[in-house]
Amino acid sequence: MKSQYTAAAGLLFALGAAADSTIASGEGFGTYYYDIKQVDACGTSFSSQNQGGVMCSSETLQSLDMLNTNYIVAMNNSQLRSDPSKYCGKKVVVTVNGKKSDMPLFIGDGCERCATGSSTSDTWNAQGAPGLDFSYSVLDELTGGSACETGHSAISWEILDESIHDFASGGSSDSTESSQGSTPTTLVTSAAPAATGESSACENNAWQCNGNVIEQCVNSAWNTRVSCAAGSTCKGDSNPYCA
Ligand SMILES: *[C@@H]1O[C@H](CO)[C@@H](O)[C@H](O)[C@H]1NC(C)=O
Repeated sequence: MKSQYTAAAGLLFALGAAADSTIASGEGFGTYYYDIKQVDACGTSFSSQNQGGVMCSSETLQSLDMLNTNYIVAMNNSQLRSDPSKYCGKKVVVTVNGKKSDMPLFIGDGCERCATGSSTSDTWNAQGAPGLDFSYSVLDELTGGSACETGHSAISWEILDESIHDFASGGSSDSTESSQGSTPTTLVTSAAPAATGESSACENNAWQCNGNVIEQCVNSAWNTRVSCAAGSTCKGDSNPYCA
């Protein structure tokens, strides 16, 4: 009895030491919604999706285009919203047909479909099914080139307690570039425009849609952050995005 117990404890210890700690995992479906490299693929254009701001943006709304990587993964948006700092920037390992991904995938955005319906459903439903949402290129690689054909694929995933992208500093840890270098011309950064007689006091860091423009409150004045591309509109009220 005693030796059995000791052996079991030893095994547990070994597993714990070998595995990265997992903060969340699940099974469901992988889909795609953007691609900053293959903007036109699979009979569609991702140009407006690429301009959408991601949920993990901190003070400055960052669009997929600005983040300039296809490794951003969107997860259950209710789960993400419940504790952004727990998930944002954390590495994701995805398994398709028993094969684990070795790409530097990380949580950066919220997925509405992934939050709707039963978290244990194994039936595909475009209106609600558990899973993750990827760039087209990444889903295509995960599925051995069938992303376009099937649109959604059975996956399982683990979110590891390993941060590989720092949204707070606006980039990965190896990038010290200020936001100035990579800021699209549609964004107003630095010096908030001197209030030209307009006194629309707002609460700092609040966000809103103003027509087709995403605005952030800086120094008590609304500033343009992203203009939604033609064909997309600003949605989401205080948590705006272009879609
Ligand atoms: C999404 O996350 C919420 C909050 O954690 C959970 O209650 C819900 O079941 C999840 N939905 C799916 C489809 O996984």
